[in-house]
Amino acid sequence: MAILNLSTDVQKFLSEPKKLFIGGEWVEPSSKSYFPVENPADLSHFAQVSTAVEQDVDAAVGAAKAAFEGEWSHVQPQERSKLMLKLADLIEADRENLAQIISLENGKPYTNAFHGEVTITANIIRYFAGWPSKIEGSTIPVSPRGGQKMLNYTTKEPVGVCALIVPWNFPLSMCAWKLGPALATGCTSVLKPAEQTPLSAIRLAELFAKAGFPKGVFNVLTGFGDRAGAPLAAHKDVDKIAFTGSTQVGRLIAQAAVGNMKKVSLELGGKSPNIIMPDADIIKAAKGSADGIFYNQGQVCTAASRLYVHESVLDQTLEELAKHAASHIVGPGLDPETTMGPLVSQAQHKIVTGYVDKALNEGAELICGGKVPSGLGDGYFMEPTVFLDKQEQACISKEEIFGPVLTVMSWHDVEELVFRANDSPFGLAAGVWTQNLQQAHTVAARLKAGSVWINCWNVVDPASPFGGYKQSGWGREMGKNVIDAYTETKSVFIDLSE
Ligand code: NAI
Ligand code: MG
Repeated sequence: MAILNLSTDVQKFLSEPKKLFIGGEWVEPSSKSYFPVENPADLSHFAQVSTAVEQDVDAAVGAAKAAFEGEWSHVQPQERSKLMLKLADLIEADRENLAQIISLENGKPYTNAFHGEVTITANIIRYFAGWPSKIEGSTIPVSPRGGQKMLNYTTKEPVGVCALIVPWNFPLSMCAWKLGPALATGCTSVLKPAEQTPLSAIRLAELFAKAGFPKGVFNVLTGFGDRAGAPLAAHKDVDKIAFTGSTQVGRLIAQAAVGNMKKVSLELGGKSPNIIMPDADIIKAAKGSADGIFYNQGQVCTAASRLYVHESVLDQTLEELAKHAASHIVGPGLDPETTMGPLVSQAQHKIVTGYVDKALNEGAELICGGKVPSGLGDGYFMEPTVFLDKQEQACISKEEIFGPVLTVMSWHDVEELVFRANDSPFGLAAGVWTQNLQQAHTVAARLKAGSVWINCWNVVDPASPFGGYKQSGWGREMGKNVIDAYTETKSVFIDLSE
């Protein structure tokens, strides 16, 4: 296998222990302790990163608060836009380096990191750069009881200091989903990237520093969930938390927010139902469904992990799915031939292989994959895997796996199908493959999910809201909806009576 050579910029970037980004400066962690970043393709330790603890959280939140109350509050909307556009340009100009860093720390194929994350990140920042001059209040025709002439208007003000806590599956674009609206609304933030993938966030901070924002508008604390994430989530000077990650930690975040009644938005797990109708274009549906589960090694909150296929087209669909699974080239993300990289960590690999063993014990039928591929060394690789669990009895048809493991089930009655699709604690995404317009709209309306994809999957756009029903989260990110999550609305009354 031919591994892509790292650029000289990336080599230089990785050669020194990475510090914390606080108040516009690179500072040593108060613990003086650093932790290694592991390459999941070969288990090598290729960088050292600061371990932030509570004292660093205090310093970063203090810097963010000072910037919020100080210099940043005087920056006009148009100027915020300009700075954000500059940041987007810097991200784009650094795209090869960023994509190499993402591929190294996360494992995903370089081209997916390049197009699926870096390009998208620049576009997200650009989308939000359009917002600062468009965040408007309204004038409201009120009817005061005393009959006075009264002017009432609203303003939208930035909520304050935001804690951005993000996971490892899309290490860079998850930062942008949160940093974009924070900057657009005039908030300041402290980012805590995942411990598995801290380097792309550090690189982002370097670009941020170059863009010319005032100091303290954006701060980055690398470290672990318990020692850095938890004190950040509980901090009394943090006004809002935006979190993406497990439902389990989402609950802890919500509890931590209660102390000072922080605003909270949560993007959590999923077990998304994907439905193939008997009239669907099966070739297209099977390809879309395979991509929907195997993209990013299946480590996607919206992974198309529960596939409901009409019994009349089950055999053909399984055949097509097996073909797509077999067509994947599993290998290191920096090998240009690779289409599926390793899972992110040993912990994730254990979860996924554990589910495969459990499914076999519970009687699910293995259609393809299911093994750790041989000949790839010690990396956390896993074959793209398809199980058939017609009657939906194995736990792989209910629980989030977060790996390249698809569970296929069959159905014959639409009423029963809709019930089964909605019978989940999650409600993040759902999909329908059909050529029947009436069916498409009717079923889409009945699915309890924040995103419904008809004849497509994983279409996400910065202009369109994203988020989950039920235990998949609180609130929506992206689009105009997210602006409310980062602002407070003030209602002003002025008595105009003489
Ligand atoms: P996690 O939820 O523990 O980690 C996400 C982020 O939260 C990381 O930055 C982590 O350091 C931080 N964190 C952890 N504990 C915290 C705490 N007590 N307070 C504040 N921050 C904390 O996810 P993990 O353990 O990496 O993965 C476990 C499972 O979660 C996966 O197998 C998958 O099922 C799910 N997951 C879902 C994601 C999504 O996009 N919805 C992303 C990552 C994981
Ligand atoms: Mg965890």
